[in-house]
Amino acid sequence: MNPNLDRLQPYPFQKLNKLFEQITPNQDFLPVNLHIGEPKHATPALIHQALADNLAGLAHYPTTLGAGPLRGSIAAWLMRRYRLPAINPETEVIPVNGSREALFSFAQAVIDSSLSQAAVICPNPFYQIYEGAALLAGATPYFLNTLPENGFALDYAELPDDIWSRAQLVYVCSPGNPTGRVISMDEWRQLFALSDRHGFIIAADECYSEIYFDETAPPLGALEAAHHLGRSGFPRLVAFSSLSKRSNVPGMRSGFVAGDAAVLKKFLLYRTYHGSAMNPAVQAASKAAWDDESHVVENRRCYQKKFAAVTELLQGVLRISMPDAAFYLWIKTPISDVEFTRLLYRDYNVTVLPGSYLARYSNGINPGENFVRVALVAPLEECVEAAGRIKMLMSCL
Ligand SMILES: Cc1ncc(COP(=O)(O)O)c(C=O)c1O
Repeated sequence: MNPNLDRLQPYPFQKLNKLFEQITPNQDFLPVNLHIGEPKHATPALIHQALADNLAGLAHYPTTLGAGPLRGSIAAWLMRRYRLPAINPETEVIPVNGSREALFSFAQAVIDSSLSQAAVICPNPFYQIYEGAALLAGATPYFLNTLPENGFALDYAELPDDIWSRAQLVYVCSPGNPTGRVISMDEWRQLFALSDRHGFIIAADECYSEIYFDETAPPLGALEAAHHLGRSGFPRLVAFSSLSKRSNVPGMRSGFVAGDAAVLKKFLLYRTYHGSAMNPAVQAASKAAWDDESHVVENRRCYQKKFAAVTELLQGVLRISMPDAAFYLWIKTPISDVEFTRLLYRDYNVTVLPGSYLARYSNGINPGENFVRVALVAPLEECVEAAGRIKMLMSCL
């Protein structure tokens, strides 16, 4: 077997199951699950309809590049959303089966493990796929801690030049999971300068880009920043986007990658052999989703309401601050994050995720320690109920 499989860490939810193994949660309370970032709002009818209307597509093998109309809709969406003058749907866009598989397979296509000590750089805490992708591609992951002291920004100076010079791939996540932080123009400028100097490719994970709180201020995107900074053709930059959170279709498995045409050409070649073409009915439903914004505005409205209600309740009890975007509260805990999670589950039947499970020790610390991630995915009433129970736990600590 591939020995790199043994380098994979248990997934955070496996660790959580282990933590809860011997515990029976308080049955006086109905369970509220806020640990998984799975959207729970209803899938829009227009997506159901488009899927049902296109079942005839199941009779054909899809191409890896995807159908022209879907790529056209994605390119048009990118131009509208990020005020880009042009995106070539033939060379700068590939539909993918959710951003997770693309974030993983991208590393397999990009990393040259014959070069000694190939490095992949990830934020910390982070979406666990980055690390697994790096390890299975034969590279070593290195981490940039995101800490409250600097507003959860990436501090590129944290890693020495020796590691940057071996970096082949850098994952960034904006809006970030779990912190919700959006990378600023100035931070993009610095990252692009590092990429120009060391030659690494940037994978910009933007699966939360459409969940934000101010309709007039959508989060800055990677391609938008590159365009603004005059980086024509998005050199060594690929953005990863998804319908899962935007359109409440985590089960549909639909997203896209967009950016540097030369990188995408190689990625497409990899994907042809990997066998990751998108189901034709899903392609049609995805096109319908990217063409419509009204359901996304409504989706955001639901999150805005939940954040307003929950932050108001928890203000004064815990140090709560609104994230820039995405649907997580990243809350500092007064006791260990693991103990906080355990007590909340045992005594109040609310499940959240310990922050330390989402991070690795780097620079002598685990930056997820003493934080919990609370995904405001459940219906408003359940989120409010959970906030009330968190208040009850806090009064006992
Ligand atoms: C940061 C981040 N990136 C990517 C994904 C994958 O999303 P999907 O594969 O549904 O597009 C997730 C899912 O939770 C995520 O949190």
